[in-house]
Amino acid sequence: MRITMEETIATPMPRIGDPAPEFTAVTTQGDINFPGDYKGSWVILFSHPADFTPVCTTEFMTFASMQDEFAELNTKLVGLSVDGLYSHIAWLRTIKDKIEFNGMKDIEVTFPLIEDITMKVAEKYGMIMPGEDSTKAVRAVFVIDPKGTIRTIIYYPLSLGRNFDELKRVIVALQAADALEVATPADWRPGDRVIVPPAGSCGTAKERMDGEVEGVECVDWFFCTKAYSEDEVFAAIK
Ligand code: BEZ
Repeated sequence: MRITMEETIATPMPRIGDPAPEFTAVTTQGDINFPGDYKGSWVILFSHPADFTPVCTTEFMTFASMQDEFAELNTKLVGLSVDGLYSHIAWLRTIKDKIEFNGMKDIEVTFPLIEDITMKVAEKYGMIMPGEDSTKAVRAVFVIDPKGTIRTIIYYPLSLGRNFDELKRVIVALQAADALEVATPADWRPGDRVIVPPAGSCGTAKERMDGEVEGVECVDWFFCTKAYSEDEVFAAIK
């Protein structure tokens, strides 16, 4: 199957803040109704270009080996490619039986992998980028919150394997921002200072500048931060 540039342009791509587009699909773990089956959980819905390809293999092994870490963050994983179910099953069996990578081996992928031979889901989510390849999905990542709203979208080209520490950082940062009503600065990690929102919700600008709001430090009226320890962040997002 091939998707033309015109068809891609005719299908609006979902954006951050939109409800996750709905679909039903056959997966390696049975049928799913998305995002309805995932209400109450965070989800990383991600596409990969093709089964039996090396970069995708390393990505699946890494994601599967981190599945428990994501589960601790109330986050479920759902993969997709435009291959069929039997290809998916054979590829995942080969990964478990034969592939070693980065110290990982005997890796079983137990999260659902969607078969999308008609490309309906990939098209709906803007995962096909004909300029890159009209017959495969790019490496798209959609982070969807427990209410079914798209919160982050990241795209990578075919040649570039994803950074999974960054995907985990995105989940923790989004959850921390929601729980603490803050924003997170460049390269933020739990334990680093966070950005507190504009004056009003956390003291007036003068109170903040004068150091009168507990824990808040301002270097200018628009740039105020607050310390939260790693433990405080994880307690807040539990
Ligand atoms: C890979 O996963 O290795 C791959 C897939 C499609 C194009 C290029 C690389």
